[in-house]
Amino acid sequence: MSTRQSSQVRSLQSRSSKSGPNNLIDISTPAGEEITIRHQEGHILVCNACCCGNTEKGFPAVPLETWKSEWKARSIRKRVHLTIAGCLGPCPLANVVLIIYRGACVWLQAVNSPRQVKQVYDYVESMMSAGRYVSLPVQLEKLHFTRYDFDTGSCSPTDHVEEYSAPAEG
Ligand code: FES
Repeated sequence: MSTRQSSQVRSLQSRSSKSGPNNLIDISTPAGEEITIRHQEGHILVCNACCCGNTEKGFPAVPLETWKSEWKARSIRKRVHLTIAGCLGPCPLANVVLIIYRGACVWLQAVNSPRQVKQVYDYVESMMSAGRYVSLPVQLEKLHFTRYDFDTGSCSPTDHVEEYSAPAEG
């Protein structure tokens, strides 16, 4: 975050004690407008596309109602966004979920049951309580797979942070 952006983050009192601060930030658009969005800690992307959830292809259904109802019931929407997504890529591993939390990317496969969905939310809430990435709990370890060379179930995402230097325009 730039210094300029940092100064524009506004912490407002949230109506829900569970949802934490309501951090809003003003973003300058290429057209010169200022648009306010919410700064978030994380994002859960649940694939429900050509293979994930496609029972006609022999894959288990995605427990979409549990994904949505737990997200609402846990009052975390102001801190962690939920997206029911199109294809995330590794189709044969259906049902695929990507958790992004404070720079960490955690990929899970075969998240097929409401019980597993609740375990994923429990895990995400454990990171929210800690305010940082934490390792996967034992019950989710068997679902983890590596998609990127910086995927993690065990290492710090800050190990991979380097400053990008754009090439000079010629
Ligand atoms: S359909 Fe889920 S990864 Fe492609």
